[in-house]
Amino acid sequence: NGALGEIWDDNMSSTMLGKRLRKVVQNYQAMNKYGVQYSGSEGAAGRPKLSGPELLCQLKQMVQVMTITPDMEPFSGLSWASQLPPRPLTADVGPFKNCAVVSSAGSLKSSGLGKEIDSHDAVVRFNAAPTAGFEKDVGSKTTMRLINSQVMAAEDHHFLSSSLYSSGILVGWDPAPYSSDLNEWYNKTDYPIFKQYQRYRRLHPQQPFYILHPRVEWQLWERIQDNMAEPIQKNPPSSGLMGTVIMMSLCEVVHMYEFLPSRRKTELCHYYQRFSDAACTLGAYHPLLYEKNLVKRMNQGLDRDIYTYGRVTLPGFSTFNC
Ligand code: C5P
Repeated sequence: NGALGEIWDDNMSSTMLGKRLRKVVQNYQAMNKYGVQYSGSEGAAGRPKLSGPELLCQLKQMVQVMTITPDMEPFSGLSWASQLPPRPLTADVGPFKNCAVVSSAGSLKSSGLGKEIDSHDAVVRFNAAPTAGFEKDVGSKTTMRLINSQVMAAEDHHFLSSSLYSSGILVGWDPAPYSSDLNEWYNKTDYPIFKQYQRYRRLHPQQPFYILHPRVEWQLWERIQDNMAEPIQKNPPSSGLMGTVIMMSLCEVVHMYEFLPSRRKTELCHYYQRFSDAACTLGAYHPLLYEKNLVKRMNQGLDRDIYTYGRVTLPGFSTFNC
């Protein structure tokens, strides 16, 4: 690749991590908090690697973007079910032509990508990632914000009152036990997502707010594990990858920014915080390293665009047949 600097190697493995991080990843691999039991081709080394188009087809066919609707049990029997959107996200939102998924990586700092990001028909951001004060690098448009239940519940995020969350479509998610139905999840959420959801809806009844069906997380997890040569963390994929798959089902073209690090690669965790940890980019709890391998294999853009802009190009599900 000569003049082109180093970009993400799609064969990244936990053995390439530093000692400390490797240990953390190993611990998560062993912990299995969500009771994952997967008998696919887990860690089957030597299996032929699928091509980008084959991986895209797997995603399209095996990951179904679903949200919770009031007709689903146990919600149908609960008084607050009427606060849930009557129709699924995919029926209400889009379709869009071009979409931008903005990771929260520190390498967005000084990227100057704001205008490019804002030029998309829809822009997705994550958790507590702000635009105010960072417009030049990350833009100012927010069509959708994917938030995890920890952000929804933690005191210091002020989820109910902060203006950070009050524009755009909200999509909340919480890790469910692997093989659970909605009933089991309802009684065993990681954080009190439903309590916070009800409170938020009362305060902001006009803002669209969906809850992701936890099946999506694990369907996506299986696609990652199935295509890696080693066992991955038995935890849900990161928000970044989930937001990308959501947008692939709503958009013709999806651009992800700084999910695969550009030449600005840094240990700075988030562009909006002064905190550094390589785990933010390489993953500890989330199987982020493997998510990035998968995304690198599916990328339809140039390696140079990753290097210069941190930009990956993925086709929307509606644009290809399998
Ligand atoms: O940290 P948080 O989950 O809010 O960040 C949003 C997403 O951006 C992550 O889920 C991950 O996919 C991506 N990210 C990254 N590298 C970082 C920070 C975030 O790839 N350093």
